[in-house]
Amino acid sequence: MSNEIESILTENRVFPPFDNLVQGAAISGMDGYRAMCNEADANPDEFWARLARENLVWNKPFTQVLDESEAPFYRWFGDGELNVSANCLDKHLGTPTANKTALIFESDDGKVTKVTYKELHARVCEFANGIKALGHKTGERAIIYMPMSIEAVVAMQACARLGIIHSVVFGGFSSKSLHERTVDVGASLVITADEQVRGGKTIPLKNAVDEALGMGGCEAVSHVIVYKRTGGQVAWSEGRDVWMHDATANQASQCEPVALSAEHPLFILYTSGSTGKPKGVQHASGGFLLWSLLTVNWTFDAKDSDVFWCTADVGWVTGHTYITYGPLAAGLTQVVFEGVPTYPTVGRFWDMIQRHKVTVFYTAPTAIRSLTKAAEASPSHHPREYDLSSLRIIGSVGEPINPEAWMWYYKNVGGERCPVLDTWWQTETGAHMITPLPGVTPLKPGSCTLPLPGIAAAVVDEAGEEVEQGKGGFLVIKRPWPGMIRTIWGDPERFKKSYFPPELKGYYLAGDGAQRDKDNYFWIMGRIDDVLNVSGHRLGTMEVESALVAHDLVAEAAVVGRPDATTGEAVVAFVVLNQSLPEGEEADHIAKQLRDWVAREIGPIAKPKDIRFGENLPKTRSGKIMRRLLRVVAKGEQVTQDVSTLENPAILDQLSQAH
Ligand code: WTA
Repeated sequence: MSNEIESILTENRVFPPFDNLVQGAAISGMDGYRAMCNEADANPDEFWARLARENLVWNKPFTQVLDESEAPFYRWFGDGELNVSANCLDKHLGTPTANKTALIFESDDGKVTKVTYKELHARVCEFANGIKALGHKTGERAIIYMPMSIEAVVAMQACARLGIIHSVVFGGFSSKSLHERTVDVGASLVITADEQVRGGKTIPLKNAVDEALGMGGCEAVSHVIVYKRTGGQVAWSEGRDVWMHDATANQASQCEPVALSAEHPLFILYTSGSTGKPKGVQHASGGFLLWSLLTVNWTFDAKDSDVFWCTADVGWVTGHTYITYGPLAAGLTQVVFEGVPTYPTVGRFWDMIQRHKVTVFYTAPTAIRSLTKAAEASPSHHPREYDLSSLRIIGSVGEPINPEAWMWYYKNVGGERCPVLDTWWQTETGAHMITPLPGVTPLKPGSCTLPLPGIAAAVVDEAGEEVEQGKGGFLVIKRPWPGMIRTIWGDPERFKKSYFPPELKGYYLAGDGAQRDKDNYFWIMGRIDDVLNVSGHRLGTMEVESALVAHDLVAEAAVVGRPDATTGEAVVAFVVLNQSLPEGEEADHIAKQLRDWVAREIGPIAKPKDIRFGENLPKTRSGKIMRRLLRVVAKGEQVTQDVSTLENPAILDQLSQAH
């Protein structure tokens, strides 16, 4: 067990809920929470049906709640019809929310643009009409590869309105990754921008799209719609490429939302698994919408007066659930930010909270850890220099938040007045699963606390039996829930194998290790598979390995994670070259080449922090790479295990040299 995890487990500070948050909270007090959990346990179908009827607008009411006939391919509200975009926008027209600010967009250079719900509705309709006019139809797939912008939200909502299934690819991914996803999803439409701007630098997007489409296999793409963000130079393919402003010009500001089965796929979002190929996580319309809306209301205790800010990018699930869908369905005003937390100064987040009077702030531990360091190095941009009194709730997502970062966040950002909500969930779960509730849960730094009502989370052993308190095991969800993944796009077998292994009694296997303490609080112990979590981004070790071995110089590669004080985990690559062992400057030079190569193959987030060269990798006599040992070497620790089963024990010394 690492020191980090030990320090988490001996953590015993408890912070009771603040009285002002208990009063009038969506779920109020532990009794209110228990009552909802009991309602869900007594009759899950009735519980979910009630919530779906009370919270969503249906074109055709459902008669069936959960269909388990083809488990684990569960269907929710399957004979009901609705439209997700209508539930986020049209629902508010004719109510006071219509004239409320929906989005406060702040660009990298600080320009602020606001749109009301009514205006956002009109823009989504105009763009949806534009997409229709190009001939695209319900059921087609669109790749969205855009910077953080009002336009990205408009693009996603317009797809939802038409029942075009979107697959957003994070703007930091390479053309190669973009290509792989475009082919896998069978896209007919790509929506992008000329360039993106981050931290004062422009980064091309349209060029990357051209490159990706040029790699072959994307012949189904008939249009590339381009949002003009910077006006930078782009190549143009006549007939295929269309400016977003031309597509929307002269389009009506009304567009009938298409009534779709609740099971119609809303989106496919790729995420890393334990093989080299990312998985296309497919979500359904009704269940995802319900779960994103409910969790905005429950976890963030949404109030009409809130100014909500989730700092994620729409390229990740957090940006889907807590920017594009949940907060809009809840009618909230939210901040959408194009830039990075360190530009123009490391006080950017705090300055924005102060200026926009943000009430609910939701970010990642990696941002908190890097801003902690930055604030200490630059006292004039420390959060205490800003007026953050508007905040009432602060949240965290993406990776375990260590108690030190939790306490810093709680004291310096939350002013010891705001609960820190450590929300555990995944791309596959659609929205929060295990999380404190502001008016309910006593907090323990480092624990995501208790499951939401209706979520049957448990920690089990290899046979699916619950383990006792204090013992580690697999985190599972015993019963299906509406927001869950429906399948892996194009690979139902992998879906079954990854998430519902037969020995676990049909439970959903999250892929995280966990344990529960004496109060039944959950403590997440990190992934149990070959997936790393670097700055809150999931990265398959096999994905990085395949990228490395695709380089001419590389014969073999093994990638492991190493704990990192800022990014949570860092990528360490052990590489065998097709040439003699490099030394000194040559080794540094090749290491740089390989890093740049990985950035081009996958994206800069996958760049190995350390590269170690060896003439071989530590292998058992049957040829299996001993990753366990590599993890020890990566940490710079002495190997104390018995290495007598290794074919080549001497190799460990060679591999301890970092480049
Ligand atoms: C990790 C992000 C500990 C976990 C929403 C999970 C967490 C993976 C937490 C999903 C948390 C996320 N505490 N670990 N509060 N939140 N994780 O799909 O390993 O990008 O399986 O979804 O991140 O990452 P994903």
